[in-house]
Amino acid sequence: MRDFTARPEHGLVWISGASSGIGRALALKLAGEGYKVAVTARSHEKLVELQAEASGLAGSIVVLDGDVTDAEDMEHIMASIEYEHGTLAMAILNAGVYLPVHAEDLNRADFEKSFAVNLSGVVNCLLPAVRHMKAKGQGQIAIVSSVTGYGGLPTGAAYGATKAALINMAESLKFDLDKMGIRIQLICPGFVDTPATRKNAFPMPSLVSTDEAARQIAAGLKSQAFEISFPRRFTMMLKLARMLPYSAYFMLVNRVTGWRERPSSAGRHPVTPHPAE
Ligand SMILES: NC(=O)c1ccc[n+]([C@@H]2O[C@H](COP(=O)([O-])OP(=O)(O)OC[C@H]3O[C@@H](n4cnc5c(N)ncnc54)[C@H](OP(=O)(O)O)[C@@H]3O)[C@@H](O)[C@H]2O)c1
Repeated sequence: MRDFTARPEHGLVWISGASSGIGRALALKLAGEGYKVAVTARSHEKLVELQAEASGLAGSIVVLDGDVTDAEDMEHIMASIEYEHGTLAMAILNAGVYLPVHAEDLNRADFEKSFAVNLSGVVNCLLPAVRHMKAKGQGQIAIVSSVTGYGGLPTGAAYGATKAALINMAESLKFDLDKMGIRIQLICPGFVDTPATRKNAFPMPSLVSTDEAARQIAAGLKSQAFEISFPRRFTMMLKLARMLPYSAYFMLVNRVTGWRERPSSAGRHPVTPHPAE
């Protein structure tokens, strides 16, 4: 039996984190294919601009701004989708932040914000989405993780930890959601040229545009694959690297990123005092 695939006639697609980058490009792509797309983020003006840009397309954009870290906000958005705009056919849980972590200067706020947006933010959207899809016995959910979730990488202690958790979350949910008629998929992009990656001060191999990312994701959502990862060769290489013994994995990542040769700031900064000190 084929898993459920949401088509425009089934209802709305909800995309979180659609004011820029991958989410924005995907909203335009799906609206171009005739879907009615509800877009969520905190930047109301950017979402209204996106809606205007989609005005000539086959589908349409509905602006429902909100903060994914606010569970009540997400419940209200879900209610608005269901009772004012149609019915939820697909949810793409994409909102996320990338905060690089350097062990020389560990900062609690970076971990807490990453966990709040990337993990709790997904849960806050997932719960109402599953509840509504369960009542109908069908639906499609895609969680945006990252290839960073495959294995530890320099600066990824907070971001990578959230993305690894999302991979496990999607895998674990699949067992029950399959039985409920709800299809869950995992999206693991490599490097995509977005505002989030433009601040990276290192070369990004196999970087793709947001349009290419949207094209890959839109195709993957219609396929029967559990994981949508791209660009293919890059993500396969990372998966193979993760199968190496740890000693070889750490050596490889150090060599490819040149991380060992980078100067460490340990000892150069005064120790940040604990607030209690
Ligand atoms: N770019 C890459 O190379 C890459 C690779 C792998 C995975 N990813 C993942 O892809 C997703 C999109 O990333 P991107 O590169 O497109 O980043 P981006 O351009 O910075 O977009 C992030 C989106 O998330 C929204 N967002 C952030 N915090 C939010 C909050 N508290 N509530 C609601 N929305 C919030 C932002 O909107 P507002 O600021 O307006 O709220 C924005 O629309 C993320 O989950 C990221 O981890 C990206």
